[in-house]
Amino acid sequence: MPNRRSFLRSAFAAPLFSTAAAAQEPQTSAIPGLPRLDDPAYWSKIRDQFPLSRDKVFFNNGTIGAMPTVVVNRMVEHIRKIAADIAEWDYRGPEWIGGYGDYPGLRGKIAKLLNADEKEISLTENNTCSMSYVGSGLDLPRDAEILITDQEHPGGQSPWLNAVKRHGGTVVKMVIPKPMNSAEEAFDIVRKSITPRTKVIAISHMISASGAILPVKEICAEARSRGILTVLDGAQTAGHIAIDVKDIGCDAYVGCFHKWLLAPAGNGFLYLRAERNAEVWPSIASGNWDNHSDNGYRLSQRGTGNLSVLVGAEAAMDFHNQIGPARVQQRIKYLGEYLRDGLRRIPKVKFYTPLDPKLNAGITVYGIDGMNGAQLQDAMWNRGRLRPRASSGIALRHSTHIFNSTDEIDRSLAIMRDLAKA
Ligand SMILES: Cc1ncc(COP(=O)(O)O)c(C=O)c1O
Repeated sequence: MPNRRSFLRSAFAAPLFSTAAAAQEPQTSAIPGLPRLDDPAYWSKIRDQFPLSRDKVFFNNGTIGAMPTVVVNRMVEHIRKIAADIAEWDYRGPEWIGGYGDYPGLRGKIAKLLNADEKEISLTENNTCSMSYVGSGLDLPRDAEILITDQEHPGGQSPWLNAVKRHGGTVVKMVIPKPMNSAEEAFDIVRKSITPRTKVIAISHMISASGAILPVKEICAEARSRGILTVLDGAQTAGHIAIDVKDIGCDAYVGCFHKWLLAPAGNGFLYLRAERNAEVWPSIASGNWDNHSDNGYRLSQRGTGNLSVLVGAEAAMDFHNQIGPARVQQRIKYLGEYLRDGLRRIPKVKFYTPLDPKLNAGITVYGIDGMNGAQLQDAMWNRGRLRPRASSGIALRHSTHIFNSTDEIDRSLAIMRDLAKA
């Protein structure tokens, strides 16, 4: 049994609570049981870190991440602590609820992953909230044009449709081929869509319904040279592919912890470049609504929230960091390539994901003649207890992550080969 003092230390881990931690390097709490990097069974031991049932296979990380055991444990331990000891909260130290604190530990960790400054990061509930904060918080001229693609998720496009319906302006949907043929082609489509009235370009970094990676660096450079604000929807990228917001040169980057970073649901973030941060009004205001010395905190105001899910998100960041972001990205990509390589050998398979390796990673969207997405999803589940997700009516979206294996992909390919024979 841990004694009371050590329990308190572990349940209320320093990074999320201590304001003193703000001045320190981001801290990482050790994840017990991680294999050594040179262990030949490395990835199967990583699989052991997940409570995912062995009789089912999860391939739908594009919707929600599967949490590692350490994330579940930290969060549950924290919920128990709050339930048992809330009377100890004396309002002198750190908050015992979410939504009010500035959380330097978690903001510092996501800032480091994105190559941003902690004060450029706001914590939100999810991608939809992050995008909505930008869409609702900007003062735009009544004739403003907002460029989006024809493949944005409802949570990525609706904030802009709402903004123009309320304040005037137009949302222009650029048509991106599916599959996207090349980065040059996509860049050209965006460049040719810009007019003198274009004020915002709000597009996915990786399109969720195809897994295509857009040439965001080139697009942001073009936009910046014309004074256009760029907002990237990174719902599918954090924890999946490398992101360097300074190198990309975007003004805003929307993302979440609860997909590829494997955190509990209800954890989003918003990066706003320091130089343009003050242009965004808070849509939700509480005590720090006008705190321009920390603009990320200013836009994190949201009243009482669940601190336990923030504890879970920070544990997920620690898990990610201890394996190493680059190693995670390489493994996801390797498994994605393994799947695409197998699918390529099945003649009836049609890809909606670009096959150029520079334009894809761990999401593969594909279909097969004569079957729709729901039928494919059902076939995968009924024949193999495999769970990729139906996509866009006609296809399957198959996401691969570090808890998946080549054996699980082989089983998926066997089912596809069978379906292709029919
Ligand atoms: C590209 C994209 N944007 C936005 C969202 C919405 O995310 P959330 O439900 O976290 O708000 C998703 C969810 O899948 C997505 O893929």
